[in-house]
Amino acid sequence: MALSKLTLAALMLPLLGAVVASPTARSITHSTLVTRDDLLPEYDYVIVGGGTSGLTVADRLTESGKYTVLVLERGAFQNSSSVWTVAGGISAFLDPNLLFTFQSAPQEGLNNRSITVMNGLLLGGSSGVNAMQVLRGQQEDYDRWGSYFGKKSKWSWDGLLPYFRKAWNFHPPTPELVSQFDIKYDSRYWGSTSNVHASFPTFLWPALKMEMAAFGDIPGVKYPSDSGSGDAGAYWHPTSFNPTTVTRSFARPGHWDGIAAARPNYHTLTEQRVLKVTFHGKRAKGVVFVPADATDQSQARTVKAKKEIIMAAGTHHTPQILQASGVGPKKILAEAGVPLVVDLPGVGSNFQDQPFNIVPQFNYTSFPFHPDTSDLATNQTFIAEAAAKFAANRTGPLSVAAANCAAWLPLRVIAPQAWRDIAARYEAQDPAAYLPSGTDRAIVAGYRAQQKALARAMRSKGSATYNLILGGASSNGAAVYLHPCSRGTVHINRADPFFSPPEVDYRALSNPIDVDVLLEFTPFTRRYFTETRLKSLNPVELGGAGANATRDQVEAWLRGALIPSSFHPVGTAAMMPRHLGGVVDEKLLVYGVKGLSVVDASMIPDLPGSYTQQTVYAMAEKAADVIKVRA
Ligand SMILES: Cc1cc2nc3c(=O)[nH]c(=O)nc-3n(C[C@H](O)[C@H](O)[C@H](O)COP(=O)(O)OP(=O)(O)OC[C@H]3O[C@@H](n4cnc5c(N)ncnc54)[C@H](O)[C@@H]3O)c2cc1C
Ligand SMILES: *[C@@H]1O[C@H](CO)[C@@H](O)[C@H](O)[C@H]1NC(C)=O
Ligand SMILES: *[C@@H]1O[C@H](CO)[C@@H](O)[C@H](O)[C@H]1NC(C)=O
Ligand SMILES: *[C@@H]1O[C@H](CO)[C@@H](O)[C@H](O)[C@H]1NC(C)=O
Ligand SMILES: *[C@@H]1O[C@H](CO)[C@@H](O)[C@H](O)[C@H]1NC(C)=O
Ligand SMILES: *[C@@H]1O[C@H](CO)[C@@H](O)[C@H](O)[C@H]1NC(C)=O
Ligand SMILES: *[C@@H]1O[C@H](CO)[C@@H](O)[C@H](O)[C@H]1NC(C)=O
Repeated sequence: MALSKLTLAALMLPLLGAVVASPTARSITHSTLVTRDDLLPEYDYVIVGGGTSGLTVADRLTESGKYTVLVLERGAFQNSSSVWTVAGGISAFLDPNLLFTFQSAPQEGLNNRSITVMNGLLLGGSSGVNAMQVLRGQQEDYDRWGSYFGKKSKWSWDGLLPYFRKAWNFHPPTPELVSQFDIKYDSRYWGSTSNVHASFPTFLWPALKMEMAAFGDIPGVKYPSDSGSGDAGAYWHPTSFNPTTVTRSFARPGHWDGIAAARPNYHTLTEQRVLKVTFHGKRAKGVVFVPADATDQSQARTVKAKKEIIMAAGTHHTPQILQASGVGPKKILAEAGVPLVVDLPGVGSNFQDQPFNIVPQFNYTSFPFHPDTSDLATNQTFIAEAAAKFAANRTGPLSVAAANCAAWLPLRVIAPQAWRDIAARYEAQDPAAYLPSGTDRAIVAGYRAQQKALARAMRSKGSATYNLILGGASSNGAAVYLHPCSRGTVHINRADPFFSPPEVDYRALSNPIDVDVLLEFTPFTRRYFTETRLKSLNPVELGGAGANATRDQVEAWLRGALIPSSFHPVGTAAMMPRHLGGVVDEKLLVYGVKGLSVVDASMIPDLPGSYTQQTVYAMAEKAADVIKVRA
């Protein structure tokens, strides 16, 4: 559905009129971007997917020179200006060469609409197409993940903080912007060594100052000391670009460009589609792949891994490849005619993403600020000035990917009357009631564990449920639901496991608690725009079900408008105990087999209260250390 892409672009990223940059990024050497003919028969590690996590892990595993690594990536080396452009944050997203897209299953909770599933399809993966927002979840998110294994787990806020520092090179905002906009930041939550950059633009839309201050008019909203402090609240945050060149910073320039030449032990083969992992008994031995445009297996080749095969194909494709290899739910594998290696029901279950397009829009009718994002779309004088600034000094509005501030608020703040009751009803649910019928007992038990932990999060002041995106524009109102309770599935196409896209079912709104939570989003958003200092801008409510709509009418609108994805899919190869339906253990090794691990967003057990790229990089940094320990 093309609509979802446009709606999202229009709502989330206001700078549609952005001018394309001509970047001056580092050059790269292709010396070890190998062809099929140059491949060694065997590597220490074979990494499936050269995306955000895959290239991070590959970089770290090749650093010492001790191990040989092959990255197999389905996409191409893409180096167009659409990849590099920061302005507006969506030029990559609008370039069809950089994405794979396919339709989801019809969503019963959304009037049977299908949604376009999208992800990055290039060397660098989704980090090469994302909207460049750099955000960390709350401390409680990371503690919760470890809690599924017990109190001593190293998967925790304290355990991950060093990896957040290792993963990101932080560049603070200019002193001028700090004082003009009252920006708080604290470099202690960040590092300074990574080649992946988190930077602030040199310009911010003037209206943002008032919009940020308006959150302070709402009881319970805090302003944490930094976006990386792991607290809920309203804060300024960086975007992923290189401050020297003002070009996108992503996994390829961060963990691949330039280093390849110096590392003969690091091979990359692009435009190859991995079909499956092969086993000797229960030990993963190799992977089978074909050219990306192949439609059958006549050109299939196998490459072997001495130590480990590392899955990094992303939340939609890692479970597809595992299932096609015989690692997954026995019943589905039997229906697809795939020989079983290990019955692991969690592969492809527990699928989560963050719903979007769930609040009405508010247009200010008295808007005293100049400039705003509409100038960049229609004011030719302003557009020319912005282009000149960027060309001369890489400054100005074209250094803005999207507003560098937003609010991340707890349920109790946005729903002061309803939160207790919602959390109590969620916690009291029969865990099997809203999962697909016949769901395996271990998965039900895992969902029960999540239900308890997430009910605590619903009640907590330290955990965000609601995210309002600010634009600095005269029209606003895009929100993201951070911790949906519904759980979907990603399964192989049983008629064509290898070449058809996976069957992605969000099962959006299948848990009625999600409707209860989302019904609180509209009145709160209205409160923010009309009962704070923003009232003086005379906002009018547009879209949604209308200002006087009944709950039923708002629900009907939601079912017609909601998009179940903000491009933050996680959970389909969850790091949880096996008796809770997990797929990998705390060492990221797949249960029931040897020599096979998962390092991408599919191993995240439940969503953080933020977007996902910052967390994926940090987890991949930790994964690399975990893998090195057992090398
Ligand atoms: C449009 C968009 C906007 C986003 N905006 C933001 C944002 O603003 N902020 C934020 O924090 N997060 C954002 N995200 C999410 C974030 O980018 C992802 O969570 C993160 O990049 C996922 O990393 P990954 O390693 O799990 O997967 P990816 O980076 O997607 O890597 C998976 C790789 O595997 C490859 N692959 C797949 N199948 C195969 C196969 N069979 N064989 C070989 N290779 C294969 C893919 O081509 C891809 O390169 C966005 C994502 C998208 C798509
Ligand atoms: C990629 O693009 C950058 C910026 O335009 C350029 O400097 C670099 O040489 C390009 N690399 C390749 C291999 O084409
Ligand atoms: C959705 O499809 C199902 C199965 O085909 C059908 O039973 C149901 O009535 C449809 N719902 C809507 C709202 O169209
Ligand atoms: C367009 O932008 C210029 C430069 O900032 C400004 O002086 C002018 O008032 C703007 N025009 C309109 C119609 O807002
Ligand atoms: C670029 O920066 C220099 C030095 O600060 C300044 O004099 C010049 O006006 C800037 N150019 C543009 C087009 O903004
Ligand atoms: C609301 O604002 C947007 C963006 O400025 C504009 O395109 C739209 O026409 C406005 N809607 C109304 C009804 O004023
Ligand atoms: C909502 O109701 C109020 C009070 O009855 C009325 O003034 C307003 O016009 C109504 N708004 C809409 C959008 O119908």
